[in-house]
Amino acid sequence: MILRLLAMLVMVLSGAAAAAAQQAAPPVDNCRTCHAQLDGKLGEPAQQFADDVHATRGFTCANCHGGDPREEDMEKSMSRTRGFRGAPKRSEIPQLCAKCHSDGAFMRAYNPSLRTDQLAQYQTSVHGKRLSSGDARVAVCSDCHGVHKIRPASSPISNVHPQQIPNTCGRCHADAGYMKPYKIRTDQLLSYQASVHFDKLKGGDLAAPTCVTCHGNHGATPPGVTSVERVCGTCHVFQEQLFDQSPHKDAWAKTKIPSCLTCHGNHAIKHTSDTMVGTGKESICMTCHVEGDNGGKAAGRIYTALTGLDASLGEALSVVDTAERKGMEVGEARVTLSAAREKLIKARVDLHTMDGARVEETTKAGEKLSKQANQDGVQALAEYTFRRKGLALSLLVIAFVVVCLWLLIRNLERPAAGEETERT
Ligand code: HEC
Ligand code: HEC
Ligand code: HEC
Ligand code: HEC
Ligand code: HEC
Ligand code: HEC
Ligand code: HEC
Ligand code: HEC
Ligand code: HEC
Repeated sequence: MILRLLAMLVMVLSGAAAAAAQQAAPPVDNCRTCHAQLDGKLGEPAQQFADDVHATRGFTCANCHGGDPREEDMEKSMSRTRGFRGAPKRSEIPQLCAKCHSDGAFMRAYNPSLRTDQLAQYQTSVHGKRLSSGDARVAVCSDCHGVHKIRPASSPISNVHPQQIPNTCGRCHADAGYMKPYKIRTDQLLSYQASVHFDKLKGGDLAAPTCVTCHGNHGATPPGVTSVERVCGTCHVFQEQLFDQSPHKDAWAKTKIPSCLTCHGNHAIKHTSDTMVGTGKESICMTCHVEGDNGGKAAGRIYTALTGLDASLGEALSVVDTAERKGMEVGEARVTLSAAREKLIKARVDLHTMDGARVEETTKAGEKLSKQANQDGVQALAEYTFRRKGLALSLLVIAFVVVCLWLLIRNLERPAAGEETERT
């Protein structure tokens, strides 16, 4: 007990001292000065350390390695009697980092908003559990964050920034040789990079899921059936709600068939298409249903409803486009058209109920709008033809009048035969 109190006191004091160091002149760090002049593995840490988040907060090499940074002499500064620990073993790293990061009081002095549950979370992960059972090949803190050039997670060049994460995890998980003893797949990175999610991420959309969105960062575990449902549903809210209303919910739960993954996959999630439903070769419904059963019937109905509206929209669009190219005003038809397209999008979400009637209800509303837009387009085209005919007619009339006028003027100007001879 007394020891714990003492330890806490030291922590608090060192916290205050470190906080003060932030304001004061940069601390004397002979470790860094000497190591910066060394080559290779001994020099690199010092060369990289300048922009490390810990260096910018006034920490020195000794905060992690022990020893005495005030001593210029190598023997003295790296002496065991001054607490020098050397380079920690991989298995010791989580405890080393957690010395500060799991200490709420200490961390608050620097950044009150930073979580302090990383070690606790880590210990629940497959990585953490295997480490504690003696396997040091799993990811430890420094595999994901780096060692001497650690950045805040928000920095774009941090290893744990969303856009860097796939490669950070892939360094081990895509390395078939490294992962060989574990007999798990090593295609996660490649598959993920072929997904619509990665496309979005690459395009700069940080809201797209990365490895850690689905697996957790410190508690990285393979998601269980229920947690996967929750993960997809945090972003795709409506699909989840409607899936929950579908006959699949209870039937699949009983036989432990996962929800979204069964139809969409996990890593290589692709854009969807209407051919996924229906009774054709690409239909996922047909992997479990047959054409005659209720599921097969619903699949056919949904497919017909979706493709029907899609085709109708295509026609309407082409009519409206033609009218617009001819210079007709089609603003209103376009508004109707986009309302119809909204219905198609909604119908594709509605299908997660697997209820043919419900999908048809939405597509029928879409068809109505689509027909309306089509009619508006046809009308605009008719008006165009009418105007063309009118224009031709008025041109004819104008030409006739011009010719008449010309004839009239010629008649007026032509002198009488007598006058002409008189002048000469
Ligand atoms: C005057 C130069 C000098 C100073 C000062 C110095 N070192 Fe070193 N350090 C070395 C050299 C040379 C080696 C490699 C030889 C050895 O391990 O004894 C080394 C090795 C190390 C290693 C690797 C040991 C291992 O287990 O692989 C670490 C870590 C280290 N130093 C940290 C520190 C820290 C922390 C300080 C300050 C408290 C410090 N050094 C001060 C020169 C220095
Ligand atoms: C935030 C904690 C932390 C700080 C600060 C830190 N180190 Fe390290 N250092 C580590 C860890 C962890 C390792 C072990 C890395 C590994 O095994 O992957 C390490 C390894 C080393 C090694 C051995 C490298 C090797 O590849 O064998 C040297 C040398 C070293 N550090 C020197 C320094 C010097 C010099 C500084 C200050 C400029 C410093 N460290 C600051 C955590 C730290
Ligand atoms: C498997 C990879 C991985 C391991 C192992 C890991 N981290 Fe992280 N860490 C992350 C990711 C990813 C984030 C970014 C989270 C975010 O952006 O919300 C993060 C964020 C952090 C943060 C910022 C605050 C926070 O919690 O979001 C700290 C501090 C941190 N980690 C410390 C640690 C420590 C200490 C350990 C070891 C006990 C550790 N990490 C192990 C991946 C890892
Ligand atoms: C001596 C105490 C101490 C040790 C040891 C330590 N850290 Fe830190 N770390 C801090 C403090 C303090 C901050 C700065 C918090 C701030 O000001 O935002 C920090 C910041 C970080 C951040 C940035 C958090 C963010 O997103 O803003 C990461 C990541 C991190 N540390 C990881 C590690 C890892 C990994 C280790 C072990 C190799 C480690 N730390 C060891 C004290 C420590
Ligand atoms: C240093 C290498 C390394 C890094 C980096 C790494 N892992 Fe791992 N990971 C492993 C090893 C080794 C296992 C153990 C495999 C096993 O037991 O099945 C593992 C296990 C896992 C598992 C459990 C797999 C299962 O079904 O058993 C998941 C999920 C996982 N890692 C996700 C991640 C994520 C996400 C990241 C990046 C944030 C990451 N890992 C970074 C080495 C690594
Ligand atoms: C959209 C969510 C999602 C993303 C993003 C994601 N995963 Fe997964 N991952 C899953 C699901 C779900 C499973 C479970 C598969 C199952 O149960 O069939 C899984 C399984 C795993 C496994 C266990 C072995 C396996 O393949 O079944 C590992 C390891 C893994 N993922 C690593 C990664 C890595 C590395 C990344 C990033 C490159 C990543 N995951 C991105 C959802 C995701
Ligand atoms: C962090 C949020 C997030 C999570 C979690 C997530 N997604 Fe996505 N998903 C997105 C974003 C963003 C898009 C891109 C939407 C777009 O293209 O407009 C997308 C696209 C998709 C698409 C393609 C839609 C299309 O345009 O054809 C499918 C299918 C999909 N996700 C399924 C899933 C499944 C299944 C899971 C769970 C394993 C999942 N998503 C988890 C955000 C997420
Ligand atoms: C029984 C199979 C099945 C299940 C289960 C399923 N989906 Fe779908 N999902 C589909 C089909 C089929 C489409 C294709 C719609 C189209 O493009 O015609 C689709 C489309 C999507 C889309 C794209 C919608 C759009 O705007 O085009 C997303 C996102 C999506 N699903 C997410 C999910 C999520 C999240 C879950 C889990 C809650 C889930 N799905 C469960 C079959 C399924
Ligand atoms: C992984 C297998 C699987 C897939 C894929 C699948 N289903 Fe099902 N479906 C089932 C099971 C199991 C039931 C419940 C038992 C039953 O009624 O056949 C069910 C039930 C249904 C029902 C209710 C049947 C009734 O008798 O009331 C409908 C409708 C249905 N599915 C439609 C679909 C459609 C549409 C698709 C494709 C988008 C699809 N299913 C994909 C397995 C699947």
